[in-house]
Amino acid sequence: MSQITPIIGLQWGDEGKGKGVAQIASGLTENDLIVRFQGGNNAGHTIWRDGKSFVFHLIPSGVFGKPKIHLGGGMVINPFALLEEYKTLPDGPAVKRRISVSPHAVLILPTHIILDSVSEKSAGDKKIGSTGKGIGPSYTDLVWRKALRVGDIFELDFDERYQKLREDHMNSLYKIFEYEIPKDLLKQLEDDFYEGLKFIKTLDIVYSSTIVEETIASGATVIAEGAQGSLLDVRYGNYPFVTSSHTIASGIGPALGIAPSLIGGAIGIMKAYTTKVGEGPFPTELGGEKSAIWCRDNKFDYEKELYPTPNPNSTDNFEQGIALRRMGNELGATTGRLRRTGWLDLPLIKYAIKMNGVTELILTKLDVLSGFDEIKVCTSYIVRGKKTSDIPFDLSREKIELEYKSFPTWKGKLSDFENTETRLPPEALAYVKYLEEVLGVPISFIGTGPEEHQVIKRFW
Ligand code: GDP
Ligand code: IMO
Ligand code: MG
Repeated sequence: MSQITPIIGLQWGDEGKGKGVAQIASGLTENDLIVRFQGGNNAGHTIWRDGKSFVFHLIPSGVFGKPKIHLGGGMVINPFALLEEYKTLPDGPAVKRRISVSPHAVLILPTHIILDSVSEKSAGDKKIGSTGKGIGPSYTDLVWRKALRVGDIFELDFDERYQKLREDHMNSLYKIFEYEIPKDLLKQLEDDFYEGLKFIKTLDIVYSSTIVEETIASGATVIAEGAQGSLLDVRYGNYPFVTSSHTIASGIGPALGIAPSLIGGAIGIMKAYTTKVGEGPFPTELGGEKSAIWCRDNKFDYEKELYPTPNPNSTDNFEQGIALRRMGNELGATTGRLRRTGWLDLPLIKYAIKMNGVTELILTKLDVLSGFDEIKVCTSYIVRGKKTSDIPFDLSREKIELEYKSFPTWKGKLSDFENTETRLPPEALAYVKYLEEVLGVPISFIGTGPEEHQVIKRFW
Protein backbone atom coordinates (compact mmCIF):
# COMPACT_ATOMS: atom_id res chain seq x y z
CA MET A 1 0.00 0.00 0.00
CA SER A 2 1.32 3.44 -0.79
CA GLN A 3 1.63 6.09 1.89
CA ILE A 4 1.98 9.85 2.16
CA THR A 5 5.52 11.09 1.71
CA PRO A 6 6.21 13.95 4.11
CA ILE A 7 8.66 16.62 2.94
CA ILE A 8 9.91 18.26 6.10
CA GLY A 9 12.34 21.05 6.92
CA LEU A 10 15.01 19.82 9.34
CA GLN A 11 16.13 23.21 10.64
CA TRP A 12 14.40 26.52 11.49
CA GLY A 13 12.48 26.80 8.21
CA ASP A 14 13.54 28.22 4.83
CA GLU A 15 15.53 25.10 3.96
CA GLY A 16 14.30 25.22 0.35
CA LYS A 17 11.10 23.20 0.73
CA GLY A 18 9.41 25.15 -2.08
CA LYS A 19 12.10 24.22 -4.56
CA GLY A 20 12.30 20.62 -3.30
CA VAL A 21 8.54 20.11 -3.61
CA ALA A 22 8.47 21.78 -7.04
CA GLN A 23 11.21 19.40 -8.22
CA ILE A 24 9.24 16.38 -7.08
CA ALA A 25 5.94 17.82 -8.38
CA SER A 26 7.40 18.20 -11.85
CA GLY A 27 7.45 14.40 -12.12
CA LEU A 28 3.84 13.94 -10.90
CA THR A 29 0.60 13.49 -12.86
CA GLU A 30 -2.92 14.86 -12.43
CA ASN A 31 -3.78 11.77 -10.35
CA ASP A 32 -1.22 12.68 -7.69
CA LEU A 33 -1.70 15.06 -4.79
CA ILE A 34 0.29 17.65 -2.85
CA VAL A 35 -1.07 18.72 0.53
CA ARG A 36 -0.08 21.48 2.93
CA PHE A 37 -0.98 20.13 6.35
CA GLN A 38 -0.15 22.86 8.87
CA GLY A 39 0.79 26.49 9.37
CA GLY A 40 -0.49 29.42 7.39
CA ASN A 41 0.92 32.40 5.57
CA ASN A 42 3.81 32.63 8.00
CA ALA A 43 5.42 30.26 5.46
CA GLY A 44 7.20 31.62 2.41
CA HIS A 45 8.19 28.95 -0.13
CA THR A 46 10.15 30.25 -3.10
CA ILE A 47 10.41 28.83 -6.59
CA TRP A 48 12.65 30.41 -9.22
CA ARG A 49 11.59 29.73 -12.82
CA ASP A 50 13.33 31.31 -15.76
CA GLY A 51 14.76 34.17 -13.72
CA LYS A 52 11.43 35.00 -12.01
CA SER A 53 10.65 34.19 -8.39
CA PHE A 54 7.29 33.05 -7.01
CA VAL A 55 6.71 32.95 -3.27
CA PHE A 56 3.93 30.73 -1.97
CA HIS A 57 2.56 31.31 1.50
CA LEU A 58 -0.54 29.12 1.50
CA ILE A 59 -0.81 27.34 -1.83
CA PRO A 60 1.30 24.17 -2.01
CA SER A 61 4.44 24.46 -4.12
CA GLY A 62 3.17 21.98 -6.71
CA VAL A 63 1.20 24.62 -8.63
CA PHE A 64 3.47 24.53 -11.65
CA GLY A 65 3.12 20.79 -12.04
CA LYS A 66 0.02 18.73 -12.77
CA PRO A 67 -0.99 17.27 -9.38
CA LYS A 68 -4.08 18.13 -7.36
CA ILE A 69 -3.31 20.51 -4.53
CA HIS A 70 -5.03 20.65 -1.17
CA LEU A 71 -4.99 23.03 1.79
CA GLY A 72 -5.32 20.66 4.72
CA GLY A 73 -7.39 20.70 7.89
CA GLY A 74 -4.40 21.44 10.12
CA MET A 75 -3.81 24.80 8.45
CA VAL A 76 -4.78 28.30 9.51
CA ILE A 77 -5.99 30.29 6.51
CA ASN A 78 -6.16 34.03 5.99
CA PRO A 79 -8.83 34.18 3.24
CA PHE A 80 -7.63 37.46 1.75
CA ALA A 81 -4.01 36.28 1.67
CA LEU A 82 -5.21 33.20 -0.21
CA LEU A 83 -7.07 35.33 -2.75
CA GLU A 84 -4.07 37.62 -3.23
CA GLU A 85 -1.77 34.67 -3.72
CA TYR A 86 -4.16 33.12 -6.20
CA LYS A 87 -4.05 36.35 -8.21
CA THR A 88 -0.25 36.07 -8.57
CA LEU A 89 -0.49 32.69 -10.31
CA PRO A 90 0.40 32.79 -13.99
CA ASP A 91 -2.48 30.41 -14.83
CA GLY A 92 -4.95 30.90 -11.99
CA PRO A 93 -8.12 29.35 -13.49
CA ALA A 94 -6.29 26.13 -14.42
CA VAL A 95 -4.80 25.89 -10.92
CA LYS A 96 -8.21 26.63 -9.39
CA ARG A 97 -9.61 23.48 -10.94
CA ARG A 98 -6.93 21.51 -9.05
CA ILE A 99 -7.26 23.19 -5.63
CA SER A 100 -9.38 22.06 -2.73
CA VAL A 101 -9.60 23.21 0.89
CA SER A 102 -10.50 21.35 4.05
CA PRO A 103 -13.55 22.56 6.00
CA HIS A 104 -11.53 21.89 9.17
CA ALA A 105 -8.88 24.54 8.43
CA VAL A 106 -9.08 27.44 10.87
CA LEU A 107 -9.81 30.97 9.64
CA ILE A 108 -7.37 33.71 10.55
CA LEU A 109 -9.55 36.70 11.44
CA PRO A 110 -8.52 40.36 11.20
CA THR A 111 -8.40 40.56 14.99
CA HIS A 112 -6.01 37.57 15.15
CA ILE A 113 -3.53 39.56 13.09
CA ILE A 114 -3.86 42.56 15.38
CA LEU A 115 -3.61 40.41 18.51
CA ASP A 116 -0.40 38.88 17.15
CA SER A 117 1.32 42.19 16.50
CA VAL A 118 0.07 43.95 19.63
CA SER A 119 1.09 41.09 21.92
CA GLU A 120 4.52 40.87 20.28
CA LYS A 121 5.06 44.61 20.68
CA SER A 122 4.07 44.53 24.32
CA ALA A 123 6.42 41.56 24.98
CA GLY A 124 9.47 43.84 24.53
CA ASP A 125 12.68 41.82 24.76
CA LYS A 126 10.64 38.65 25.48
CA LYS A 127 9.19 38.64 21.97
CA ILE A 128 9.30 35.53 19.78
CA GLY A 129 9.84 37.37 16.51
CA SER A 130 6.54 36.15 15.08
CA THR A 131 5.79 36.89 11.44
CA GLY A 132 2.77 38.86 12.67
CA LYS A 133 0.33 36.94 10.49
CA GLY A 134 -2.03 35.92 13.29
CA ILE A 135 -0.79 32.33 13.51
CA GLY A 136 -0.48 32.04 17.32
CA PRO A 137 -3.84 33.69 18.11
CA SER A 138 -5.75 31.60 15.54
CA TYR A 139 -4.33 28.29 16.79
CA THR A 140 -5.01 29.52 20.33
CA ASP A 141 -8.68 29.91 19.45
CA LEU A 142 -8.68 26.40 18.01
CA VAL A 143 -7.47 24.76 21.20
CA TRP A 144 -9.63 27.15 23.21
CA ARG A 145 -12.55 25.79 21.18
CA LYS A 146 -13.66 29.18 19.92
CA ALA A 147 -12.25 29.15 16.38
CA LEU A 148 -14.22 29.66 13.19
CA ARG A 149 -13.32 27.21 10.49
CA VAL A 150 -13.67 27.15 6.71
CA GLY A 151 -16.75 24.90 6.97
CA ASP A 152 -18.48 27.53 9.12
CA ILE A 153 -18.60 30.14 6.39
CA PHE A 154 -21.46 28.32 4.71
CA GLU A 155 -23.69 28.51 7.82
CA LEU A 156 -26.41 31.15 8.14
CA ASP A 157 -25.21 32.31 11.56
CA PHE A 158 -21.57 32.82 10.43
CA ASP A 159 -21.73 36.64 10.64
CA GLU A 160 -23.18 36.49 14.14
CA ARG A 161 -20.48 34.08 15.31
CA TYR A 162 -17.82 36.20 13.68
CA GLN A 163 -19.09 39.36 15.44
CA LYS A 164 -19.08 37.56 18.79
CA LEU A 165 -15.50 36.33 18.41
CA ARG A 166 -14.38 39.75 17.15
CA GLU A 167 -15.94 41.28 20.26
CA ASP A 168 -14.03 38.83 22.50
CA HIS A 169 -10.77 39.73 20.76
CA MET A 170 -11.41 43.46 21.00
CA ASN A 171 -12.15 43.10 24.71
CA SER A 172 -8.90 41.19 25.25
CA LEU A 173 -6.97 43.79 23.29
CA TYR A 174 -8.42 46.50 25.45
CA LYS A 175 -8.20 44.76 28.82
CA ILE A 176 -4.78 43.18 28.41
CA PHE A 177 -2.97 45.69 26.21
CA GLU A 178 -5.12 48.83 26.57
CA TYR A 179 -5.29 48.84 22.80
CA GLU A 180 -8.23 50.03 20.72
CA ILE A 181 -8.23 49.11 17.03
CA PRO A 182 -8.51 52.20 14.81
CA LYS A 183 -11.92 51.97 13.10
CA ASP A 184 -10.61 52.48 9.57
CA LEU A 185 -7.95 49.80 10.01
CA LEU A 186 -10.55 47.29 11.19
CA LYS A 187 -12.89 48.19 8.34
CA GLN A 188 -10.15 47.72 5.75
CA LEU A 189 -9.12 44.36 7.21
CA GLU A 190 -12.76 43.21 7.40
CA ASP A 191 -13.54 44.24 3.82
CA ASP A 192 -10.52 42.20 2.73
CA PHE A 193 -11.57 39.29 4.94
CA TYR A 194 -15.07 39.13 3.44
CA GLU A 195 -13.67 39.40 -0.09
CA GLY A 196 -11.42 36.45 0.72
CA LEU A 197 -14.35 34.46 2.10
CA LYS A 198 -16.24 34.97 -1.15
CA PHE A 199 -13.27 33.49 -2.99
CA ILE A 200 -13.04 30.47 -0.67
CA LYS A 201 -16.73 29.77 -1.34
CA THR A 202 -15.87 29.22 -5.00
CA LEU A 203 -13.32 26.48 -4.17
CA ASP A 204 -13.88 22.77 -3.68
CA ILE A 205 -14.32 22.05 0.01
CA VAL A 206 -13.20 18.49 0.73
CA TYR A 207 -12.21 16.56 3.86
CA SER A 208 -8.43 16.12 3.85
CA SER A 209 -8.88 12.50 4.90
CA THR A 210 -11.16 11.79 1.93
CA ILE A 211 -8.91 13.23 -0.76
CA VAL A 212 -5.79 11.69 0.79
CA GLU A 213 -7.27 8.24 1.35
CA GLU A 214 -8.82 8.12 -2.12
CA THR A 215 -5.60 9.19 -3.79
CA ILE A 216 -3.60 6.64 -1.83
CA ALA A 217 -6.12 3.90 -2.61
CA SER A 218 -5.81 4.67 -6.33
CA GLY A 219 -2.08 3.95 -6.09
CA ALA A 220 -1.12 7.57 -6.88
CA THR A 221 1.50 9.62 -5.03
CA VAL A 222 0.64 11.90 -2.11
CA ILE A 223 3.18 14.45 -0.86
CA ALA A 224 2.69 16.36 2.39
CA GLU A 225 4.54 19.67 2.10
CA GLY A 226 5.75 20.80 5.49
CA ALA A 227 5.94 24.45 6.41
CA GLN A 228 8.38 25.96 8.90
CA GLY A 229 10.94 23.47 10.22
CA SER A 230 11.35 20.78 12.85
CA LEU A 231 13.02 23.15 15.32
CA LEU A 232 9.96 25.39 15.14
CA ASP A 233 7.59 22.57 16.18
CA VAL A 234 5.30 23.85 18.92
CA ARG A 235 6.27 21.09 21.35
CA TYR A 236 9.60 19.67 20.19
CA GLY A 237 11.21 22.82 18.77
CA ASN A 238 13.10 25.32 20.90
CA TYR A 239 10.04 26.33 22.91
CA PRO A 240 8.90 29.12 23.30
CA PHE A 241 10.72 30.33 20.16
CA VAL A 242 8.52 28.20 17.94
CA THR A 243 5.48 28.45 15.72
CA SER A 244 2.09 27.27 16.97
CA SER A 245 1.64 24.04 15.01
CA HIS A 246 3.22 20.60 14.79
CA THR A 247 5.69 20.89 11.97
CA ILE A 248 7.06 17.34 12.31
CA ALA A 249 5.92 14.38 10.21
CA SER A 250 3.81 12.74 12.91
CA GLY A 251 1.77 15.97 13.05
CA ILE A 252 0.33 14.97 9.68
CA GLY A 253 -2.03 12.43 11.31
CA PRO A 254 -4.08 14.82 13.44
CA ALA A 255 -3.67 17.65 10.92
CA LEU A 256 -5.32 15.70 8.11
CA GLY A 257 -7.42 13.31 10.17
CA ILE A 258 -5.74 10.21 8.77
CA ALA A 259 -4.32 7.05 10.32
CA PRO A 260 -0.63 7.08 11.29
CA SER A 261 -0.15 3.95 9.19
CA LEU A 262 -0.72 6.12 6.10
CA ILE A 263 2.38 8.20 6.83
CA GLY A 264 5.53 6.93 5.19
CA GLY A 265 9.24 7.73 5.59
CA ALA A 266 9.98 11.42 5.30
CA ILE A 267 12.16 13.33 2.89
CA GLY A 268 14.12 15.75 5.05
CA ILE A 269 15.30 19.05 3.58
CA MET A 270 18.39 20.73 4.99
CA LYS A 271 20.53 23.67 3.98
CA ALA A 272 24.28 23.13 3.77
CA TYR A 273 24.48 25.70 6.60
CA THR A 274 21.94 27.10 9.08
CA THR A 275 19.63 30.11 9.12
CA LYS A 276 16.99 31.37 11.50
CA VAL A 277 14.51 34.27 11.42
CA GLY A 278 13.18 35.66 14.65
CA GLU A 279 14.34 35.34 18.22
CA GLY A 280 15.71 32.42 20.18
CA PRO A 281 18.81 30.29 20.63
CA PHE A 282 21.04 29.50 17.65
CA PRO A 283 24.23 27.78 18.88
CA THR A 284 26.24 27.89 15.63
CA GLU A 285 25.34 31.48 14.72
CA LEU A 286 28.25 33.34 13.11
CA GLY A 287 28.79 36.36 15.30
CA GLY A 288 26.63 34.96 18.14
CA GLU A 289 24.60 37.46 20.15
CA LYS A 290 25.91 40.39 18.09
CA SER A 291 24.47 38.85 14.93
CA ALA A 292 21.13 38.10 16.63
CA ILE A 293 20.72 41.72 17.71
CA TRP A 294 21.96 43.05 14.38
CA CYS A 295 19.43 40.97 12.42
CA ARG A 296 16.63 41.97 14.75
CA ASP A 297 17.33 45.69 14.52
CA ASN A 298 18.53 46.30 10.97
CA LYS A 299 17.27 46.19 7.43
CA PHE A 300 18.99 44.75 4.40
CA ASP A 301 19.58 48.09 2.64
CA TYR A 302 21.43 49.48 5.65
CA GLU A 303 23.54 46.32 5.97
CA LYS A 304 24.45 46.55 2.30
CA GLU A 305 25.44 50.18 2.64
CA LEU A 306 27.60 49.48 5.67
CA TYR A 307 29.09 46.21 4.37
CA PRO A 308 29.13 46.52 0.57
CA THR A 309 31.53 43.58 0.13
CA PRO A 310 31.63 41.46 3.30
CA ASN A 311 34.53 39.01 3.35
CA PRO A 312 33.51 35.34 3.84
CA ASN A 313 37.05 34.58 4.96
CA SER A 314 37.27 37.39 7.48
CA THR A 315 38.67 36.53 10.91
CA ASP A 316 35.59 38.27 12.33
CA ASN A 317 32.76 35.71 12.56
CA PHE A 318 30.16 38.46 12.51
CA GLU A 319 31.38 39.66 9.11
CA GLN A 320 31.49 36.04 7.87
CA GLY A 321 27.83 35.75 8.87
CA ILE A 322 26.98 38.84 6.84
CA ALA A 323 28.89 37.42 3.88
CA LEU A 324 26.98 34.14 4.15
CA ARG A 325 23.68 36.07 4.26
CA ARG A 326 24.70 38.03 1.15
CA MET A 327 25.89 34.99 -0.80
CA GLY A 328 22.82 32.94 0.15
CA ASN A 329 20.41 35.86 -0.30
CA GLU A 330 19.09 35.09 3.18
CA LEU A 331 16.21 37.50 3.52
CA GLY A 332 12.84 36.38 4.91
CA ALA A 333 10.48 35.40 2.07
CA THR A 334 7.48 36.46 4.17
CA THR A 335 8.72 39.44 6.17
CA GLY A 336 11.91 40.58 4.40
CA ARG A 337 13.80 40.33 7.71
CA LEU A 338 17.52 39.51 7.79
CA ARG A 339 17.95 35.79 8.35
CA ARG A 340 20.56 35.00 11.00
CA THR A 341 23.27 32.74 9.57
CA GLY A 342 25.63 30.10 10.94
CA TRP A 343 27.41 26.83 10.31
CA LEU A 344 25.62 23.52 9.87
CA ASP A 345 24.55 22.06 13.23
CA LEU A 346 24.65 18.26 13.03
CA PRO A 347 23.31 17.55 16.55
CA LEU A 348 20.16 19.47 15.66
CA ILE A 349 19.87 17.79 12.26
CA LYS A 350 20.26 14.34 13.86
CA TYR A 351 17.51 15.21 16.33
CA ALA A 352 15.23 16.28 13.46
CA ILE A 353 16.03 13.17 11.38
CA LYS A 354 15.13 10.92 14.30
CA MET A 355 11.94 12.78 15.12
CA ASN A 356 10.66 12.71 11.56
CA GLY A 357 11.72 9.23 10.46
CA VAL A 358 13.74 10.65 7.59
CA THR A 359 14.70 8.08 4.97
CA GLU A 360 16.03 10.43 2.29
CA LEU A 361 17.68 13.85 2.38
CA ILE A 362 17.69 16.87 0.10
CA LEU A 363 20.72 19.11 0.62
CA THR A 364 20.16 22.67 -0.59
CA LYS A 365 22.40 25.66 -1.18
CA LEU A 366 25.68 23.79 -1.38
CA ASP A 367 26.67 26.32 -4.06
CA VAL A 368 26.51 29.15 -1.52
CA LEU A 369 29.48 27.72 0.40
CA SER A 370 31.74 28.09 -2.64
CA GLY A 371 32.80 31.57 -1.48
CA PHE A 372 34.54 30.28 1.66
CA ASP A 373 38.12 29.01 1.79
CA GLU A 374 37.13 26.70 4.61
CA ILE A 375 33.74 25.64 5.97
CA LYS A 376 32.81 24.30 9.37
CA VAL A 377 30.27 21.84 10.70
CA CYS A 378 29.27 21.51 14.34
CA THR A 379 29.67 17.81 15.18
CA SER A 380 28.68 17.69 18.84
CA TYR A 381 27.37 19.56 21.84
CA ILE A 382 29.14 19.40 25.16
CA VAL A 383 26.78 20.12 28.02
CA ARG A 384 28.05 20.22 31.62
CA GLY A 385 31.34 18.70 30.53
CA LYS A 386 29.76 15.75 28.67
CA LYS A 387 29.18 15.09 24.98
CA THR A 388 25.47 14.68 24.50
CA SER A 389 23.36 13.25 21.70
CA ASP A 390 20.18 14.69 23.23
CA ILE A 391 19.27 18.28 22.59
CA PRO A 392 19.06 20.20 25.89
CA PHE A 393 15.48 20.73 27.10
CA ASP A 394 15.91 24.51 26.96
CA LEU A 395 18.63 25.50 24.50
CA SER A 396 18.44 29.12 25.61
CA ARG A 397 19.22 28.40 29.26
CA GLU A 398 21.89 25.73 28.91
CA LYS A 399 25.52 26.66 28.37
CA ILE A 400 26.66 24.60 25.41
CA GLU A 401 30.19 24.15 24.10
CA LEU A 402 30.44 23.17 20.47
CA GLU A 403 32.86 20.89 18.64
CA TYR A 404 33.51 21.70 15.00
CA LYS A 405 35.05 19.91 12.03
CA SER A 406 36.53 21.93 9.16
CA PHE A 407 36.44 21.17 5.46
CA PRO A 408 38.34 22.70 2.55
CA THR A 409 36.08 24.13 -0.13
CA TRP A 410 36.22 23.97 -3.91
CA LYS A 411 36.95 26.19 -6.85
CA GLY A 412 34.29 27.11 -9.38
CA LYS A 413 30.54 27.63 -9.34
CA LEU A 414 28.56 24.52 -8.48
CA SER A 415 25.78 25.58 -10.85
CA ASP A 416 28.16 24.61 -13.65
CA PHE A 417 27.92 21.01 -12.47
CA GLU A 418 24.20 20.36 -12.87
CA ASN A 419 23.14 16.74 -12.97
CA THR A 420 26.68 15.48 -13.07
CA GLU A 421 27.62 14.25 -9.66
CA THR A 422 30.80 12.69 -10.87
CA ARG A 423 32.01 16.09 -12.11
CA LEU A 424 31.36 17.77 -8.76
CA PRO A 425 34.62 19.10 -7.34
CA PRO A 426 36.11 16.33 -5.14
CA GLU A 427 35.96 18.57 -2.05
CA ALA A 428 32.21 19.18 -2.55
CA LEU A 429 31.58 15.48 -3.03
CA ALA A 430 33.64 14.66 0.06
CA TYR A 431 31.49 17.06 2.09
CA VAL A 432 28.27 15.44 0.78
CA LYS A 433 29.59 11.93 1.50
CA TYR A 434 30.68 12.95 5.00
CA LEU A 435 27.15 14.20 5.74
CA GLU A 436 25.60 10.99 4.44
CA GLU A 437 27.91 8.93 6.59
CA VAL A 438 27.40 10.79 9.87
CA LEU A 439 23.67 11.20 9.35
CA GLY A 440 23.15 7.66 8.08
CA VAL A 441 20.68 8.78 5.38
CA PRO A 442 21.28 9.08 1.62
CA ILE A 443 21.21 12.51 -0.01
CA SER A 444 19.09 12.24 -3.14
CA PHE A 445 19.14 15.85 -4.39
CA ILE A 446 21.82 18.51 -4.10
CA GLY A 447 20.84 22.12 -4.72
CA THR A 448 23.38 24.00 -6.82
CA GLY A 449 21.53 27.30 -7.36
CA PRO A 450 18.15 28.92 -6.77
CA GLU A 451 16.61 28.05 -10.15
CA GLU A 452 14.26 25.08 -10.24
CA HIS A 453 16.56 23.12 -12.57
CA GLN A 454 19.77 23.83 -10.60
CA VAL A 455 19.97 20.50 -8.87
CA ILE A 456 22.01 17.35 -8.95
CA LYS A 457 19.83 14.26 -8.77
CA ARG A 458 21.55 11.20 -7.37
CA PHE A 459 20.31 7.58 -7.39
CA TRP A 460 17.77 8.36 -10.14
P1 GDP B 1 11.32 27.29 2.15
O1 GDP B 1 10.54 28.17 3.07
O2 GDP B 1 11.87 26.10 2.81
O3 GDP B 1 10.56 26.94 0.89
O4 GDP B 1 12.58 28.16 1.68
P2 GDP B 1 12.57 29.70 1.22
O5 GDP B 1 11.98 29.80 -0.12
O6 GDP B 1 12.02 30.56 2.29
O7 GDP B 1 14.13 30.00 1.22
C1 GDP B 1 15.01 29.24 0.46
C2 GDP B 1 15.71 30.19 -0.54
O8 GDP B 1 16.81 29.53 -1.11
C3 GDP B 1 14.82 30.58 -1.71
O9 GDP B 1 15.14 31.89 -2.10
C4 GDP B 1 15.23 29.59 -2.80
O10 GDP B 1 15.02 30.11 -4.09
C5 GDP B 1 16.68 29.42 -2.51
N1 GDP B 1 17.25 28.11 -2.86
C6 GDP B 1 16.68 26.88 -2.74
N2 GDP B 1 17.58 25.93 -3.07
C7 GDP B 1 18.71 26.57 -3.41
C8 GDP B 1 20.01 26.12 -3.80
O11 GDP B 1 20.30 24.94 -3.90
N3 GDP B 1 20.96 27.10 -4.05
C9 GDP B 1 20.68 28.43 -3.93
N4 GDP B 1 21.65 29.30 -4.16
N5 GDP B 1 19.46 28.87 -3.55
C10 GDP B 1 18.51 27.95 -3.28
P1 IMO C 1 8.82 28.49 5.98
O1 IMO C 1 7.66 27.56 5.71
C1 IMO C 1 11.29 30.53 8.93
C2 IMO C 1 9.34 31.72 12.67
C3 IMO C 1 9.17 33.20 12.93
C4 IMO C 1 9.23 33.23 14.45
C5 IMO C 1 8.51 31.95 14.83
C6 IMO C 1 7.05 32.16 15.19
O2 IMO C 1 9.00 29.52 4.94
O3 IMO C 1 10.04 27.71 6.28
P2 IMO C 1 4.85 32.66 13.78
O4 IMO C 1 4.53 33.75 12.81
O5 IMO C 1 4.71 31.29 13.23
O6 IMO C 1 4.10 32.83 15.07
O7 IMO C 1 6.40 32.90 14.16
O8 IMO C 1 8.61 31.08 13.71
N1 IMO C 1 8.76 31.25 11.39
C7 IMO C 1 9.51 30.90 10.32
N2 IMO C 1 10.85 30.97 10.13
N3 IMO C 1 10.48 30.01 7.97
C8 IMO C 1 9.15 29.92 8.16
O9 IMO C 1 8.35 29.30 7.29
C9 IMO C 1 8.60 30.41 9.37
N4 IMO C 1 7.35 30.50 9.87
C10 IMO C 1 7.47 31.00 11.11
O10 IMO C 1 10.20 33.95 12.33
O11 IMO C 1 10.57 33.10 14.86
MG1 MG D 1 10.52 30.17 3.73
